Amino acid sequence: MAEGYGFGPALALRATELNGTPVTYPAPLHDPQARGFASDNYAGIHPEILEAIARANGGHQVAYGADVYTQHLQGVFQQHFGADATAYPVFNGTGANVISLQAMTERWDAVICAESAHINVDECGAPERVGGLKLLAVPTSQGKLTPELVERAAGGRGDEHRAQPRVVSITQSTELGTCYSADEIAAIVEVAHASGLTVHLDGARIANAAASLGAPLRRFTTDVGVDVVSFGGTKNGMMIGECVVVLNPEAVRGMPFLRKLSMQLASKMRFVSVQFDALLSGDLWLRNARHSNAMAARLAAAVRGVDGVEVQRPVEANSVFAILPAAVTQRLQGRYPFYVWDEQSGEVRWMTSFDTTEADVDGFAAALRDEMAADVSRRHAG
Ligand SMILES: Cc1ncc(COP(=O)(O)O)c(C=O)c1O
Repeated sequence: MAEGYGFGPALALRATELNGTPVTYPAPLHDPQARGFASDNYAGIHPEILEAIARANGGHQVAYGADVYTQHLQGVFQQHFGADATAYPVFNGTGANVISLQAMTERWDAVICAESAHINVDECGAPERVGGLKLLAVPTSQGKLTPELVERAAGGRGDEHRAQPRVVSITQSTELGTCYSADEIAAIVEVAHASGLTVHLDGARIANAAASLGAPLRRFTTDVGVDVVSFGGTKNGMMIGECVVVLNPEAVRGMPFLRKLSMQLASKMRFVSVQFDALLSGDLWLRNARHSNAMAARLAAAVRGVDGVEVQRPVEANSVFAILPAAVTQRLQGRYPFYVWDEQSGEVRWMTSFDTTEADVDGFAAALRDEMAADVSRRHAG
């Protein structure tokens, strides 16, 4: 029989049985059917991942990464990235980036990145404050660096008054929903390596990029000379976890120590590793990414037909950016969660995920059409 803790109805317990033993769970505190367009981080866990976590449960396993799941994972990542790849599972993407970049630099070095890069904008200064890194942030078109921009930012080498450009960090897919082609990355790597710089790829949404390019993961990483990848799992259906994948062992120093020092060494690592195994041993990573990209393409096609809505950027992964009247944004946000990207221009971001349905997209596009029409009527009435 259900009983409460006395904290009110939200924490009422649900009674059930597990292997014949009665157990009680708190009732869900949210609507498990509610989905919006705020972020792929808002999505839950893919059922195949949840099952994998359950399969890895029970019994004891060595802690801190010496477990069989983490050992097995090395081979899985090597299948995707080549025999030299070494995978270091971590908790989150900020941690993956900060550890990677620290491992690739000396104290006097600098990292060239796009001004819009997550490491520059959305990590609360962790690369600077925690990693002690100097970022050389470069304005770009659609979030993408180019060989010319890298060359320009890489000046001052050898000048003791200047932080020394040492790493180029690119994001794939970018924060603005665009993707670099393999050739574009190859050209950046070529210029970087020729100047003695190494290349880091923030792949929080690397699966979306691979799905968009129709290319294996190694085609635009290992095969074109990228040195280190922050590999994203959370946004692609995992519960928690990202991975630093070192492709060129000569580009890094002290990875295991930096992971612990940076508070990113999971004690029960088997539960992070088994999620990556479930994602990458088969095609789950690609199915999820293809689906979320397809939902973004469907959304872009639907909203492009709405009078007064301007889709701002190429839709190449799982996000759509558009400019809306502020009043429409406000009313629409009352119906679906999503973020304003730029207060000044009125640009908003809509993001899809592995569990976005066609009905979600169609419902949202219909709501947008209603709100835009209501806005026009209000303005005419006013
Ligand atoms: C491009 C990019 N890099 C890294 C991250 C990792 O962030 P977190 O530390 O929240 O896992 C994100 C998350 O939004 C991201 O969009």
